[in-house]
Amino acid sequence: MKLIRTTNHLEMSKIAANIILDRIKSSSHITLGLATGGTPIQTYAHLAQDYQENQTSYQHVSTFNLDEYIGLPEEDPNSYHYYMYKHFFSKVNLPQDQTFIPNGLAQDLEAECQAYEEMIKQHNGIDLQLLGLGKNGHIGFNEPGTSFDQHTHIVSLTQSTIQANARFFDSIEHVPRHSITMGIGSIMESKEILLLVSGKEKNQALNKLIHGQIDEQFPASILNRHENVTIIADEDAIMDTN
Ligand code: F6R
Repeated sequence: MKLIRTTNHLEMSKIAANIILDRIKSSSHITLGLATGGTPIQTYAHLAQDYQENQTSYQHVSTFNLDEYIGLPEEDPNSYHYYMYKHFFSKVNLPQDQTFIPNGLAQDLEAECQAYEEMIKQHNGIDLQLLGLGKNGHIGFNEPGTSFDQHTHIVSLTQSTIQANARFFDSIEHVPRHSITMGIGSIMESKEILLLVSGKEKNQALNKLIHGQIDEQFPASILNRHENVTIIADEDAIMDTN
């Protein structure tokens, strides 16, 4: 794993956006895997700014999001559909029918997971996967204990993730208890992975990722087995990880 150290969150976001732009510009078709949460918001803001200034085209880009809550309609401000539209899709010329996010309201959720995985395959897999890191080591919504072999599936969120995500909701009771997520298997099939890590609260998780064992109890640890991972981390997250 390659580690890029940045002085702060903004620099981390700019470097991430520039890597994404570089891959977009140098391919005739590209499939991006996208993350939500607090960490990539500024990265999307840089991509939006670049579009305003340089009109980098997204006509040849397809996107697959990592995850979505089960039970939230798309127009709910806490759904990841809403998040993606707000922070990214509405800001660039990415055709809507080239954006994919799991449908957390599907009647048959198991079938939705299979169809999502199938759709990723039809796009020849993810070329560049953007990831954030959960404090407990989750990636996507793959919580500790998830099998490394799993593909898109339904998960029960852990108390720690529900608590971490409660900041976006009116109260913790409103945080959904289940989600659909791409599995560790799906993520590991990506050709390239960019993991963004920012802030003191991620310090221990980053330390464990870099120095710990590969263990299903710490899902992100599997990234040590991938051939093309770049971690971009700010100073707060890196502190004491040496
Ligand atoms: C989001 C996702 C999650 C987040 C992680 C970190 O699509 O899959 O794994 O990346 O929970 O969240 P933040 O960035 O809010 O700290």
